[in-house]
Amino acid sequence: MALLAHQIRTPLATVTSLAQGLMRRADHLSIDEIRGRAEKIWRASRRVDELVETIMSYTRLNAGAMTLNLSSFNLDALIRRVCREESSHEPHRPFSIDLQGLPTRFLGDPVLLEQALAILLSNAMKYSPPEGPISVTGRVSDEGIVTVSVKGKGIGISERDLPFLMQPFFRGQNAKNIPGTGLGLSLA
Ligand SMILES: Nc1ncnc2c1ncn2[C@@H]1O[C@H](COP(=O)(O)OP(=O)(O)O)[C@@H](O)[C@H]1O
Ligand SMILES: [Mg+2]
Repeated sequence: MALLAHQIRTPLATVTSLAQGLMRRADHLSIDEIRGRAEKIWRASRRVDELVETIMSYTRLNAGAMTLNLSSFNLDALIRRVCREESSHEPHRPFSIDLQGLPTRFLGDPVLLEQALAILLSNAMKYSPPEGPISVTGRVSDEGIVTVSVKGKGIGISERDLPFLMQPFFRGQNAKNIPGTGLGLSLA
């Protein structure tokens, strides 16, 4: 919990000091400088928002309050929407989507599925360099089983860490200096 509090306070401190700087010095800054600082504020705010969302989901899950709300939706469209949303945060990163034959009427919980896919995408982006390509593939087997995969060219995961990835709070050996809670994959 101390670690989680620290992870929220760090980006919040960034937001506070950047916003204060802007308020004090806006008259002396160029439009580009103001835009640059606003963008940093936006990124740090997003990080806080993601953290709060992750912690809320983890708490709901543990309280047994995570309910499945089934409905019929267009799976192809949902995947494209989440990809568009996630890649819009890093517009310069190469991003490819290859979906073949995915059902346009699919029974599931679209909110939870969206969340799971967003977690995988944000991991792929976080653990790879900003210019590293991300590819999303969706296929349907003859038995009707849908497989969606997210591929990035990042730091990779050591074989030793593989068995523990889905455990809450687990973080890979090579991920320790990159911010994270270790809760994402356990939720996904
Ligand atoms: N795309 C990825 N590339 C490399 N390592 C990953 C990737 N996704 C997850 N991991 C590893 O799995 C661990 C758990 O992931 P996650 O539960 O999302 O937590 P977090 O990202 O907050 O550390 C990460 O700490 C990292 O070691
Ligand atoms: Mg993660």
